[in-house]
Amino acid sequence: MKLRNALLSAVIFGLAAAPLVARAEGDWKKGRIYFRMVCTACHTDKAGAAIPPVGRTKAEWKAYLTADKHAKGKDSVKYYVSQKYRESIADSNKAAAKFVSEPDAQLMEDVAAFIMRSAKDGEVPASCN
Ligand code: HEC
Repeated sequence: MKLRNALLSAVIFGLAAAPLVARAEGDWKKGRIYFRMVCTACHTDKAGAAIPPVGRTKAEWKAYLTADKHAKGKDSVKYYVSQKYRESIADSNKAAAKFVSEPDAQLMEDVAAFIMRSAKDGEVPASCN
C-alpha cells in the first residue's frame, strides 16, 4: 500500500513538474528553428544581414529582450513571436505554420533559450546559419 502511494505520488509529481521545468528553461531547439526561419529570414532580407546571437553577450541580450524595443523601437520582439504575426505569415513560412498554435509566452521562452545558449558567452556560441 505504501509503495503504491509512493509510486502514485511520484507519477503525479512528475506529471505536474514536467511542464514547469520545460517552461522555466525554454526549448532551445524549437527556438533555434524559429530564430533561423523567421527572425534571420527577415533580417537577411530586410535588415541587410543576419543578426547572430553570438554578436551579443547574455547580459546584452537579456537587456535587449527585456526592453523589447525592436528595430530601434519601431516595434517589439514579442510581436514577431506572437501568434498574430505567425498567423499572418503562416502561408509562406514553414516555421510560423509549424508553431502557429504555440502560446506566445512559451515560444518567446524557447527563442530566448536559443539566443542565450548561442550568445557570445553562452554554452554554444552560434551564428544564425
Ligand atoms: C519582418 C522582418 C523582421 C522580423 C520577422 C524580425 N526582425 Fe529583427 N529586425 C528587422 C529589421 C528591419 C531590423 C533593423 C532595424 C534598423 O536597423 O533600423 C531588425 C533589427 C533587429 C535587431 C538589432 C537591434 C534592433 O532592434 O535594431 C535585433 C537584435 C533583432 N532584430 C532581433 C529579432 C528577433 C529576435 C526576431 C525574431 C523573434 C526578429 N528580430 C524578427 C526586421 C525583422
